[in-house]
Amino acid sequence: MKHFLSAADLTRERALELFRVAAELKQRWKRGRRGTPLAGRAMALIFEKPSLRTRVTLEVGLVQLGGRGVYLSGQEIGLGTRESVPDVARNLSRWVDGIAARVYAHDTVTGLARHATIPVINGLSDFEHPCQALADYFTLYERGLDLSKITLAWVGDGNNVCNSVLLLGALLGTRLTAACPPGYEPAEHVQATVARLGGRLTVTTEAPEAVGGADVVYTDVWTSMGQEAERERRAEAFSRYQVNAKLLGFARPSALVMHCLPAHRGEEITDDVVDGPASIVLDQAENRLHAQKAVILTLLGGSLDDA
Ligand code: CP
Ligand code: NVA
Repeated sequence: MKHFLSAADLTRERALELFRVAAELKQRWKRGRRGTPLAGRAMALIFEKPSLRTRVTLEVGLVQLGGRGVYLSGQEIGLGTRESVPDVARNLSRWVDGIAARVYAHDTVTGLARHATIPVINGLSDFEHPCQALADYFTLYERGLDLSKITLAWVGDGNNVCNSVLLLGALLGTRLTAACPPGYEPAEHVQATVARLGGRLTVTTEAPEAVGGADVVYTDVWTSMGQEAERERRAEAFSRYQVNAKLLGFARPSALVMHCLPAHRGEEITDDVVDGPASIVLDQAENRLHAQKAVILTLLGGSLDDA
């Protein structure tokens, strides 16, 4: 694997290997081991959109591995305006060891990868959020769940996070359901890729049907970054897709609740659910750090022995 642009860049074996590396890095860090496998190495961290979790976990992850990140706002470097995407990729390739980019158009991150001679990581695009999905399944894996035996229900928008969660779930053999309002289902080609990967996915418009008997209920905001103009229309379309106590009642009693965060409390999820005993949203957020450290170490060719 040269880049990490899509959850579908992984195989089941690669994902499981990244989980093992992430678990090992997490344990070592918590035990106080402070190896520096990426000493002297640097990554450019390009952000066209705001971020809390992705920026902090990439920067801190690099520091913990002995390297560093150079934060570049999209506005500052004028990606595709002040300078073309290929030229930015070619220049960065002469100075740093990797690029992570949060972009509006998925084409921007694939363009960076095409013209860079260094690894590129997708830190969220309009189409995917693979780092999120990796951390999410790692969170379930470290709880000892057999990912090929559980059902994950997606409720709400068939968006970037949904796409990555479905694609990685398909690779891992997770049974998948998705409840989305008409017109907001995961893209046809994502559903086709899920099927090609042998995934078991049922898409419905009925949230109780999707959540029925699920082991995991996952939701995300109704209006993603860049869609702010559609906010009102979306609020109306998604009003029946809130993850609340009533909807959670359809899931298995042991069901876990996931959200990539940031949450719009009172919209896609209620306070009692996001703060309740079933919620593992902060474990997901914490594991962004460890899962991304595994991705960075692997892509930059660092040795786990030195970590
Ligand atoms: N979940 C996630 O990617 O959060 P940020 O947008 O804060 O990075
Ligand atoms: N779907 C959300 C995820 C944020 C992490 C967005 O793109 O804004």
